Amino acid sequence: MTKIGIFYGSTAGVTEEIATKLAEHFGEELCDIHSMEEDFDDFDDMLKYDYLLLGSSTWGSGEVQNDWRDPLLDMEEEKPDFTGKTIALFGAGDCRDHGEQFVSALGILYDHFKEAGATIVGNVPTDDYIFDYSFAVRDGKFVGLPIDEINESEKTEERIEAWVESIRVHFPQESNLFVGVG
Ligand SMILES: Cc1cc2nc3c(=O)[nH]c(=O)nc-3n(C[C@H](O)[C@H](O)[C@H](O)COP(=O)(O)O)c2cc1C
Repeated sequence: MTKIGIFYGSTAGVTEEIATKLAEHFGEELCDIHSMEEDFDDFDDMLKYDYLLLGSSTWGSGEVQNDWRDPLLDMEEEKPDFTGKTIALFGAGDCRDHGEQFVSALGILYDHFKEAGATIVGNVPTDDYIFDYSFAVRDGKFVGLPIDEINESEKTEERIEAWVESIRVHFPQESNLFVGVG
């Protein structure tokens, strides 16, 4: 069965919750959820999947969540090959107190995985967000899904739903699980 690997780094649980919701939307049978803190040993854990959803909140000033730091340093050394992999990025941030680097971690993930050969899907228009700067904006769009549970929690569910619908075509479908059965 072709599954979707979800890997997230989350300090206070917000990005973890988004990961859980994404799995619900794609279908829990179809998704394996991995915490970068507890379940990630090396990039072979990710390379088992052809389809990946990668999540990081942003900390410091525009940095990746702590559990991504060493893996990304290792990535620069080891240069794992993600050619042929389809990846979409998501993560939590705070557009009010950290609007000078809103969800910038997504830009850092984008650069690393693009460099490694992955096809990155799921960019999001900036129109619905108010912020000053984000390293995650390329060609006028976010490279993944920004969620702000601190200031705009009422928008979270609709943002997740709309994003999943926009990327579903690039990912395995739950209905494929039943192909050949019966
Ligand atoms: C010290 C500190 C620094 C932060 N830096 C940023 C930042 O640069 N950009 C941003 O968008 N959010 C920033 N945030 C907000 C967090 O990303 C936000 O609280 C998020 O919901 C945490 O998600 P998590 O629980 O998945 O780690 C920061 C928060 C704190 C406490």
